[in-house]
Amino acid sequence: MSGDTKKKLPIQAGPQAGEKIDFDDYSANYDELLHESTKLYAEDSEYFAKYKVDLVRQSIRSPVKRVLEYGCGTGRNIGYLQAAFPEAKIFGTDVSSESLRMARANNSNAEFELEAPGLDMGRFDLIFIASVFHHILPIDRKVVMKSLAARLAPQGTIDVFEHNPFNPVTRKIVNDCPFDADAVLLKPEELRGLFRHAAIRLDRVSYCLFVPPRLSWLIPLEKYLRWFPLGGQYWVRGTGS
Ligand SMILES: C[S@@+](CC[C@H](N)C(=O)[O-])C[C@H]1O[C@@H](n2cnc3c(N)ncnc32)[C@H](O)[C@@H]1O
Repeated sequence: MSGDTKKKLPIQAGPQAGEKIDFDDYSANYDELLHESTKLYAEDSEYFAKYKVDLVRQSIRSPVKRVLEYGCGTGRNIGYLQAAFPEAKIFGTDVSSESLRMARANNSNAEFELEAPGLDMGRFDLIFIASVFHHILPIDRKVVMKSLAARLAPQGTIDVFEHNPFNPVTRKIVNDCPFDADAVLLKPEELRGLFRHAAIRLDRVSYCLFVPPRLSWLIPLEKYLRWFPLGGQYWVRGTGS
């Protein structure tokens, strides 16, 4: 990666101090930039997609027929969602049309729509969201969460994965990653509040991604650390009313 494509801004600077990221500009080299930012933790960045979808699949108890990935980007999680829920129809939305173009090209069985206020795609049994909320302006987050609550089927599940601002390695990864220049990280408390505001029942807050994949023999221990606020990411699950 050349030095001039790399922007370094403090993670709490936010869009007021930096520019708002348009993922259209990053879709073509998204994978490369993600790999560059995370390679010290995991050589294969596919690891993150599979890891998160596995966590969700292993803990879902109710039947899943319709899945939405909100902020699906270039569709990196879509194939894993399809494999995890083979009976389900998978949908993805994003505000970046270029990212969606790639997502469509890579996932012919899924359906994709450009995200917009009032978008109606019906109700979903599962809404999966990974690394999106820190790109949404803090002032807009309540409205977004309410619109997601309205898309949940009765007793539908929403799973949100976010970077853990308490983890110094995560903060370094975010600081070094060009497409995170507008990131304003959220503490789990903020997501709890967003769920409350949107009348989503909070089911769990769990920390994850403690152990890099090269130490695979330690990964089974992660399930005992879900309470420990130093995982690389955290995962918040709620249920619609
Ligand atoms: C870091 S990428 C993550 C993409 C994907 N979720 C993944 O895990 O690979 C963040 C994505 O969120 C999208 N995004 C940002 N604001 C959004 C919003 N308000 N609604 C939907 N998507 C949004 C961006 O366009 C981008 O594709």
